Amino acid sequence: MYLVSTLKGHRQKQIPIWLMRQAGRYLPEYLKLRENFPSFIDFCLNLEAASEATMQPLRRFDLDAAIIFSDILILPHSFGLNVVFHKEHGPTMQNIKNIDNITVENGILEKVFGIISKTKMLMKKEFPEKSLIGFAGAPWTVACYMIEGRSSKDFSSVRKFCYSHPKEFQEIIDFLTEETSKYLIGQIKAGVDVIKIFDSWAGLVTPCLYDKYVINPTKKIVSEIRKFDQSIPIIGFPKGSGLLYKRYAEKTGVDCVAADHNLELSWIKENLQDKVIIQGNLDNAVLFSDEYTIKSHIEMILESFSDKPFVFNLGHGILPETPIKNVNLLIETVRSYKQYI
Ligand code: CP3
Repeated sequence: MYLVSTLKGHRQKQIPIWLMRQAGRYLPEYLKLRENFPSFIDFCLNLEAASEATMQPLRRFDLDAAIIFSDILILPHSFGLNVVFHKEHGPTMQNIKNIDNITVENGILEKVFGIISKTKMLMKKEFPEKSLIGFAGAPWTVACYMIEGRSSKDFSSVRKFCYSHPKEFQEIIDFLTEETSKYLIGQIKAGVDVIKIFDSWAGLVTPCLYDKYVINPTKKIVSEIRKFDQSIPIIGFPKGSGLLYKRYAEKTGVDCVAADHNLELSWIKENLQDKVIIQGNLDNAVLFSDEYTIKSHIEMILESFSDKPFVFNLGHGILPETPIKNVNLLIETVRSYKQYI
């Protein structure tokens, strides 16, 4: 498995590649499958459909991994917060101010574990060399949605809340840290080969709160996972963290850091690559350009990082209108890049 070996620190002759949100709306076969489910949550929790959506990108492209088709908001949904995805304005849920009335519903996460086991079985048959990635949102990012009750550009209610109600906020973070650890360990038991922790809103946290709300919860989750499985690779994605990426790489214990496209390649090389394995970081908008531009952006990244174990990916999820021919071009360009080991 190229992805797992690379994440364990072994440079391979082939640079592994997968894409955030690789199962999604840019694929016609995904849109077709999606039509059968008015509710996105029902889609995510349907055994056949979710494992089919996970497999779709592997059937079409030569990628090194599948990421389980689910969402970071399935966890709050399992707390009974009634998560609903709306076509126009994204997810909403019942918002909370403390954890007093939260009950963990049995059965919802078990469905995800079932989807993982089924998908793993299919992959063993069809793609034995490819890895299956399990994931969860980091406590800060999931708390953002639980307190705001919806998507937001700046999550200002959450930012106010963590200063005005530090005790309640810390309790929410601690609760999420524990539940996320259990959830990820459940995913490992069900068969995933790699774990990824998405902290998509880490960039909203100021430097003075960053340890408290981003680093410490992630570090705790990593150490809980390590008690159960000492070697499963863990990727962390503290999107938007800028200079704080360095502290994240030094202190959380993750094996690999997913770089967003706002980080400068030379900065990543100088400040992160000696500490962790790098994954990233092509701007997803580059895939809307011409062949020459696309190739040159990809090559800059390959030239920067391929001297060490490295995983190619985008800096954020693939956009819904991305032309499929450019996804093919991306994968071919990475595949044809020869490294001497
Ligand atoms: O292919 C994959 O990457 C696996 C599936 C996956 C989804 N969401 C499916 C999805 C993963 C890993 C996620 C993670 C996720 N979900 C994150 C972290 C990564 C990131 O993008 O920063 C976040 C913040 C969410 C929450 C979320 N899910 C929002 C805000 C939305 C609405 C906005 C949007 O993109 O539509 C979603 C919906 C969602 N999750 C879709 C998919 C394929 C689109 C829904 C649809 O098909 O109608």
